[in-house]
Amino acid sequence: MRILITGANGKLAASLQAFFSNTEHDFIGLGRSQLDITDRIQVLAMMLDLQPDVVIHTAALTKVDYCAEHPDEALEINAYGTRNVALACQAIDTTLLYISTNEVFDGTNTGAYLEYDDTHAINPYGYSKLVGEGIVRDLVRRHYIVRTSWVYAHGGRNFIHAILDRAQASQSLRVVVNEVSTPTYADDLAVGVGRLVQTGAYGIYHLVNEGRASRWEFARHVLDVAGYSDTPIERISSHEYPRASTPPEYSVLRNFAAARLGITLRPWREAVADFCRKEGL
Ligand SMILES: NC(=O)c1ccc[n+]([C@@H]2O[C@H](COP(=O)([O-])OP(=O)(O)OC[C@H]3O[C@@H](n4cnc5c(N)ncnc54)[C@H](OP(=O)(O)O)[C@@H]3O)[C@@H](O)[C@H]2O)c1
Repeated sequence: MRILITGANGKLAASLQAFFSNTEHDFIGLGRSQLDITDRIQVLAMMLDLQPDVVIHTAALTKVDYCAEHPDEALEINAYGTRNVALACQAIDTTLLYISTNEVFDGTNTGAYLEYDDTHAINPYGYSKLVGEGIVRDLVRRHYIVRTSWVYAHGGRNFIHAILDRAQASQSLRVVVNEVSTPTYADDLAVGVGRLVQTGAYGIYHLVNEGRASRWEFARHVLDVAGYSDTPIERISSHEYPRASTPPEYSVLRNFAAARLGITLRPWREAVADFCRKEGL
């Protein structure tokens, strides 16, 4: 299979490229400087030239607070950039796998969202990604939509590093309790996506590590596995941590559809511990 990955310099794309490099599949990752998804002509030309069997579309504007302050830019990249990718896939009749987010939901479900539950985005990032989902469904015959949440990866700074930096510097820690979802390890997600894309079972999927956590529980677990069990973390409400975006409160994604294909990700606590071990934290 010949696979094209958009947004190749991103976190998930790096894990996907590492995954596919250990398979027999032929893959190419293109970063923004090689393939700007907002350039419709360039996207079409690249697709006609490369003729991929599958496009894994990870490119996106992912900074949610920036999206809240620049909603048109979020739409331009996440929705209309996705339209350019979808139109190009339509033109060469190829398969598209679009990475989406827990933020397409409004966060009022204190249980867990299933793949075909009603969506309702409450911030510009979520809205732009949701419009992208609709475009993919409308334009591409063979598509997968893979929603995930709270992705962390090697090769950059993330929530885990931020928490540990403060603990190491003996700075006080205050973390939100009323934002609940699931931390997801990019390397685990990449394996799930890599397996899913070979099934031909098109549709909507939720791929996250198993279980749920508040931001506070996530931080607590990080400190525990890194040997900072004695470091306290103050529980605060999101009202005490004002930010430009409004994250959904409860946006736990339940993997029902992929589990039917035998694709599940391990529990999030195990994944975080493994990540910390590999990072030497
Ligand atoms: N991170 C999360 O917690 C999370 C959660 C749920 C879903 N997702 C989704 O997962 C996917 C991958 O996210 P990630 O965490 O790997 O994000 P990331 O590290 O921010 O990677 C996204 C990549 O997209 C690129 N990009 C932005 N605008 C582009 C454009 N116009 N043309 C081409 N490339 C462009 C960025 O390039 P630059 O570096 O040049 O800006 C960046 O390398 C995204 O679709 C995101 O919406 C992420």
